[in-house]
Amino acid sequence: MESKKEPLFEGVTTKELNLKNRLVMAPMTRLRAHADGKASTAMAQYYQQRATAGLIITEATMVSPLSHGYMFCPGIYAPEHASAWRNVTESVHAAGGLIFLQIWHSGRVAHPSLLDGLSPVAPSALAGTGTLHGPSGKVSLPVPEELSLAQIAEIIREFANAAELAKLAGFDGVEIHGAFGYLIDQFLQDVSNKRNDAYGGDIAKRTRFLEEVVAAVCAVFPGRTGIKLSPANTFYGMGDSDPMSLFKYVCQRLNQYDLAYVHFMEPNESDLASGAVIKNVVRTFRADCNHLVIANGGFDKAKASEYIESGLADLISFGRPFISNPNLPYMLELGLPLAEASPTVFYGQGPESVLGYTDFSVVN
Ligand code: PHB
Repeated sequence: MESKKEPLFEGVTTKELNLKNRLVMAPMTRLRAHADGKASTAMAQYYQQRATAGLIITEATMVSPLSHGYMFCPGIYAPEHASAWRNVTESVHAAGGLIFLQIWHSGRVAHPSLLDGLSPVAPSALAGTGTLHGPSGKVSLPVPEELSLAQIAEIIREFANAAELAKLAGFDGVEIHGAFGYLIDQFLQDVSNKRNDAYGGDIAKRTRFLEEVVAAVCAVFPGRTGIKLSPANTFYGMGDSDPMSLFKYVCQRLNQYDLAYVHFMEPNESDLASGAVIKNVVRTFRADCNHLVIANGGFDKAKASEYIESGLADLISFGRPFISNPNLPYMLELGLPLAEASPTVFYGQGPESVLGYTDFSVVN
């Protein structure tokens, strides 16, 4: 008798999409693109090797030259970027996979040495904490320039343009990066947003930028737009005086848009050690979300199954395990031992860094 599949390995269908299982490959910065932001051949192979995921979400991809937080991360603002990404989407589709592009503006998490001498931009002229790798070594996050209203309108157009180019490149949808201390998160949280115009002040005003980006991107990709949020992340100096009220409001507002899902990042050990107020993001906000929920961060098979079977989440995204186990759904379903990747290979230095990237064995 054929045994029934566990719910984690069963498909899920949305209005627009048909996912073959509930395992999502989480967005992960790997830095193997060309210096001009074009996706590389190695990237097409890397994503194709992982096409058994129910959904792949790509690494964070710049929507404008000013959103350049890291060297060798890919872009999606010029037609050449769309052509290069087309090799990736065709490779994944040929292997039967689905792939969303994560679209990203890094805001104050950038440095003039990565921006042709220009200053990074942000809601307010307040530097984040931490360092970045510039072309000549480690640099601290500088004080960014405060965005004008005209510049804010331009960035919203850049997100829409990125979505248009993603469509041209053959992506099945896009994920808006609203997490991890980057631009949208900088608008949401009051540690980094001290504006007193239509985009700062109370919770509704701080959420306005996110809503305008979501509306513009959903107009391009209705039912195929996701958003990532990290209400408990403290990296790059993030924090808010009342994260419970803020993110409850954000979730409730998002219910009005034609989204594919909301993707929540759980706090990691360092967030908890730095005093993150919300200890369990999905348990806290699930009830406020009418969309499908993806849970991310620190899951193994047992915890993933528990979340799916109890209805706490609809999908679970895995990051690191997908680096070293390209066919992760198969490995988990059969209970095979997982390979571990050394953190030294997480980040590359351009298209030639295939070591620790495309060389993990694909077990079938
Ligand atoms: C994420 O989507 O979780 C993410 C992406 C890029 C980063 C950090 C986090 O640099």
